[in-house]
Amino acid sequence: MPVQRITWLLGGLILAAATVSLQQSLQSSTNQDSTAITPALIARGDSVFHGQVASGTCSACHGPDGTGIPGLTGDLTSRKRINGDGSLRSLMQIVQDGVANPKQGVPMPPSGGASLTPPDIHAVAAYVYSLSHQR
Ligand code: HEC
Repeated sequence: MPVQRITWLLGGLILAAATVSLQQSLQSSTNQDSTAITPALIARGDSVFHGQVASGTCSACHGPDGTGIPGLTGDLTSRKRINGDGSLRSLMQIVQDGVANPKQGVPMPPSGGASLTPPDIHAVAAYVYSLSHQR
């Protein structure tokens, strides 16, 4: 094989590897893990939670401060979760799907009964996450 060919091949390999690692870093930044939680996102989630945007309904059942309503909902400011593992991903899933078979109270409808877009869900889940991760 001519040297030039080998150089091209190597170049291609390096490029491919670079593309894969770029894709991986893009993926992890959009994976909505806790590193993606910014103050702006939390502020938006706060507005959804309290119904100022996207007609969010969360505070009606979870209380304005998220500490819950006895017999209906638990305390979102505590790290103890009734459902899920408390990760951002799990919180997003719960907000999206609701809780069909709650341990107490009435079922939580998907998106709390509002029509939330995926960015709304991401934001409100980040807000809920922040409630129990103040430090
Ligand atoms: C109709 C009342 C209602 C509304 C509205 C509502 N929820 Fe819920 N939510 C519940 C109930 C009931 C549970 C389950 C409690 C249980 O399992 O004992 C729950 C559970 C959760 C959980 C899991 C908490 C845990 O510890 O298991 C999260 C997170 C949550 N809700 C977030 C939200 C958000 C965010 C909104 C607004 C988009 C919202 N909820 C709107 C009633 C509601």
